[in-house]
Amino acid sequence: MKTKTQEILSKALKEIEKAKTKQELFGVNTQFLGKSGEISELMRNLRELTAEERPKIGAILNECREQIDSAIRYKTKQIENKELDAKLMNEQVDVTIPVEPKKAGTLHPISQVQKLLMDFFARKGFTIKSGTDVETDYYCFEALNVPKDHPARDAHDTFYINNEIVLRTHTSPTQIHTLESENPPIKMMSTGVTYRFDEMDGTHTPSFHQLEIFVVDENVCMADLKGIIEEMVKFLFGEKTQIRMRPSYFPFTEPSAEVDATCPQCGGKGCSLCKGTGWIELLGCGMVNPKILEQHNIDTKKYAGYAAGLGLDRIPMLRYGINDIRDLYENDINLLKQVK
Ligand code: DAH
Repeated sequence: MKTKTQEILSKALKEIEKAKTKQELFGVNTQFLGKSGEISELMRNLRELTAEERPKIGAILNECREQIDSAIRYKTKQIENKELDAKLMNEQVDVTIPVEPKKAGTLHPISQVQKLLMDFFARKGFTIKSGTDVETDYYCFEALNVPKDHPARDAHDTFYINNEIVLRTHTSPTQIHTLESENPPIKMMSTGVTYRFDEMDGTHTPSFHQLEIFVVDENVCMADLKGIIEEMVKFLFGEKTQIRMRPSYFPFTEPSAEVDATCPQCGGKGCSLCKGTGWIELLGCGMVNPKILEQHNIDTKKYAGYAAGLGLDRIPMLRYGINDIRDLYENDINLLKQVK
C-alpha cells in the first residue's frame, strides 16, 4: 500500500508538471483527488486493513493527498501569472506612436451668423435683448396688430400649446416686451428660434431662426431703415451687393417693405440659386405702425420707429452654397467642418 501510494504520488506530480492549462490541472485534480479518484479509492480500501496498519497508512495517504493538492495550487498560480503576463504584454501601449491632433468643434453656421450680426448691430449702438420661445397669443399676434382672422394665427400655421400659449412664429414679440419696459429712444436687436407648423422640405423646417431690429426715436424715417439694412447686407455678402425694397404688408408696420439682395452667387446676372431673377428675398421691414406706439403711450408726433425681421437660416445657405435647409440640422460633421 505504501509503495502504491508512492507510485500514485510521483505519477500525480509528473502530470501536474506536464499540465499547461488550468483545465488540465482540473483534470489531474479529478483523476487523483476526486470522489472516485485514485487516492480516494485507496482511502476506501483502508477498511480492509488491520487496526494497527490503518492509522499509519491513513496518515501516509493524507500526506500524499496534501502534497498533490498543494502542487496543483502552486501550478495553478504559476499558470495564472503567465496568463496575466501575456495579457499585459498584449495590452502594452506604444507611447512613441504620434498622437493625432484633437479635432476642435466649431460654432454651428447659424450661430456664427447670429454672432456676426450681434457684433454688427452692437457696434451700431443696438442693445441686445433676449426673448422667449414660448409666448402668449397677445405678444405674438394681438399686441402686434395681427387681426384675429389673419392666416398666421391659424392653427395650421402656428404651434398652439393651448388657446393662449404659442411657440413664437417670429421674433417680433420682443418689440412689445421692449415697449413695455423702456421709453424711447429705443434701439434694440434680438435673435433666436422661431416656430411654424411647416412641412419639412428643402426650404422649410418647423423651427428656424430670426433676427429682429427695432428702433424708436425722434427724426427716424424710412431712409434710416434702408441705410442700416443696406450696410448689413453688404457686411454679410460683400460691398458689391445691391438691395431693392418692394412694397409689402405687415400688420405691425406702415408702410411695409420686403428687401431683396442681388444674388451672392451670380452677382445679379441670374442663376439657378436665384431662379434666374438675379435677386434673393431676405427680410421684411417697415416703419412701426403708429397704433402700436400709441398703445404704449408714445407720442407719435414726436417719435417714429422702424423695424425689420430677417430669416437667419438662409444666410449660411447663401454664404456657403448650401442648397437644402435640412443639411443645417442634420449634424453632418463633413458639412459643418467646411463652414468654419
Ligand atoms: N415678423 C415678420 C415675419 O416673421 C418679419 C417682419 C416684417 C419683422 C416686418 C419686422 C417687420 O420687424 O417690421 O414674417
